[in-house]
Amino acid sequence: MKRKKITVVGAGNVGATTAFMAAQKELGDIVLIDIVKGLAEGKALDMSQASGLCGYDCKVTGTTNWTITGGSDVVIITSGLARKPGMSRDDLLAKNTEIVKSVTEQVVKFSPESFIVVVCNPLDAMVNAAAMVSGFEKNKIMGMAGALDTARFAFFISEKLSVSVKDIRCVLMGGHGDDMVPLPRFTTVSGIPLPELLDEKTVEEIVQRTRMGGIEIVNLMGTSAYYAPAAGAVKMAEAILLDKKTVLPCCAYCNKEYGVGGCFVGVPVIIGAEGVEKVIELDLDEREKKELAASVGHVKELINTLKKFI
Ligand code: LAC
Repeated sequence: MKRKKITVVGAGNVGATTAFMAAQKELGDIVLIDIVKGLAEGKALDMSQASGLCGYDCKVTGTTNWTITGGSDVVIITSGLARKPGMSRDDLLAKNTEIVKSVTEQVVKFSPESFIVVVCNPLDAMVNAAAMVSGFEKNKIMGMAGALDTARFAFFISEKLSVSVKDIRCVLMGGHGDDMVPLPRFTTVSGIPLPELLDEKTVEEIVQRTRMGGIEIVNLMGTSAYYAPAAGAVKMAEAILLDKKTVLPCCAYCNKEYGVGGCFVGVPVIIGAEGVEKVIELDLDEREKKELAASVGHVKELINTLKKFI
């Protein structure tokens, strides 16, 4: 069987970690590309030298040359500015739209059959930008945020309850911003609904910490998180490449679904060999619907703003 090919765009913290995790899972041969000369080449060589110790056979290539990325099955876009303390994800809009636009043009040129997983911020806006620029079928474009935000939610719950994080299943919707909508009602610990195990106040504290999960890390170390974001991106690439039919929230195209009306935003989906194979529609209560509508409204405002940069 021919190995799959994954391109990771951006050899910064998120990109390099994504490439390394994808290599360790042997998802395919990996091309790490960055505009900074030597950066992707150096990190890829380092990962290649680690291959014997880590036990993977896939090839990791670093480059500044888009030709090398040609024919990729999955392209993970991590390039762009990351947040610094005091910045919101939205502050990155203008610059990162330009970057995503130019990267997406190269993806269309060299890997027209690929699936695109966007990771850079402001996440939902950048997914919409990649979709506008590429014109790819909507199931082939998605954004990594729900995997990260639910992972944070799950970790905080596991810590609070002293239970295995693997037993926790979370649902979360909306944009990847402070108004994201964690859904405790649909969150379980080995099938036990969360509200059976934690009181409302504690759940609300965990929900708030999840919403602020990114900035908590930025404030600690001066830049954005990368281990959990990379793990989220790799989980999505794995779902596509191995046709896992994984159920997780991601930024996916919704038209009638949840009354979104034609944009990409965080919703629970099934991911497999066809990319986003289905958006799962939950019966939300009034409060959840209101919170989702507010978050979608925010994403739409950003989409309107970014149009002038495309
Ligand atoms: C975060 C950034 C990656 O949430 O958006 O950590």
